[in-house]
Amino acid sequence: MTEPGVEVQPVVRQKARGLGAVGERWLTELPGLVRELQRRWSIRVGAPLTGGTSSYVARATARGGRDVVLKIALPQADLAPQVRTLRRARGEGYVRLLADDLDRHATLQEALGPPLDRLGLAPRQQLETLCAMLRSAWRVPRPAEPRVDPAQEKARTLGELVARLWESLGRPCSEAVVSLALTYAERRAAAFDPDRCVVVHGDPHPANALRTVSPRAGAEAGFVFVDPDGFLADPAYDLGVVLRDWCAELRGRDPAAARALLRSYGALLADRTGVDGDAIWEWGFLERVSTGLFVLNFGAEELGRPFLDTAESLRR
Ligand SMILES: Nc1ncnc2c1ncn2[C@@H]1O[C@H](COP(=O)(O)OP(=O)(O)O)[C@@H](O)[C@H]1O
Ligand SMILES: [Mg+2]
Repeated sequence: MTEPGVEVQPVVRQKARGLGAVGERWLTELPGLVRELQRRWSIRVGAPLTGGTSSYVARATARGGRDVVLKIALPQADLAPQVRTLRRARGEGYVRLLADDLDRHATLQEALGPPLDRLGLAPRQQLETLCAMLRSAWRVPRPAEPRVDPAQEKARTLGELVARLWESLGRPCSEAVVSLALTYAERRAAAFDPDRCVVVHGDPHPANALRTVSPRAGAEAGFVFVDPDGFLADPAYDLGVVLRDWCAELRGRDPAAARALLRSYGALLADRTGVDGDAIWEWGFLERVSTGLFVLNFGAEELGRPFLDTAESLRR
């Protein structure tokens, strides 16, 4: 077996350091863990992959020459729902799972191609593709005992996160933005309906949507998702996450133009999925604010700031 040069992306390293001693240990022990998994899964680890923020991900070759991908997540992540979702999906809308080791936060996956956001596609084409992918991903069977702990319901936990981080970070955006995000969180929590829940991806942004290497069943959109959170929620939640991005398209426009553009994206999402447009908009704003604060909180100012800046234009 070759000695892998374990290269951790700067943003992942930063996030690991933000976790304190646990993260430092993860960084130190990572090369040894990669060696161990190379032996156990009979793979040869190659070039690292970029695009994520919470894991070491690298290309690898399995016995017989098959291309695969090794992912080792930061220790704070609970990879169990991800593994459960990928197992149940059996490749439908999602990457195929080849092996996993939950104790080590590691998975071995089918190798995929480039992410949707690196192909030079116009935003609307990306939105169309994400809708087609989500319609397929939402077919993952629900667990036998489908229940959502009210304390874990997403609108509620996001609202709590926004209120807490806004204070602890020294109020890094306007009170008006936070207050609107909290209003939307309350509305989405009040609208929570267990019968409408599906197993959502939870973070279906274009960097988690990867092109398949060759056509296959379950990947009719030509792309599948990696990195699902896999919990029960309103499908509008996933579409709100989709709407949360597009900071580059929104920045530099006056607020009315920014809002009109994002409204048109939201209308497209609603049209292609049959999901309520207002629910998508509210989730999208709540996600924009919570993501901005969450990212600032782990120290990536340049990544988090655009979410908060665009929220200032959109709230008007
Ligand atoms: N199976 C795969 N095939 C090819 N590239 C992948 C695969 N899984 C992940 N990647 C690449 O690695 C990046 C990070 O992986 P991801 O599972 O999203 O980890 P993170 O938890 O860090 O977001 C993805 O955005 C993608 O570019
Ligand atoms: Mg990811």
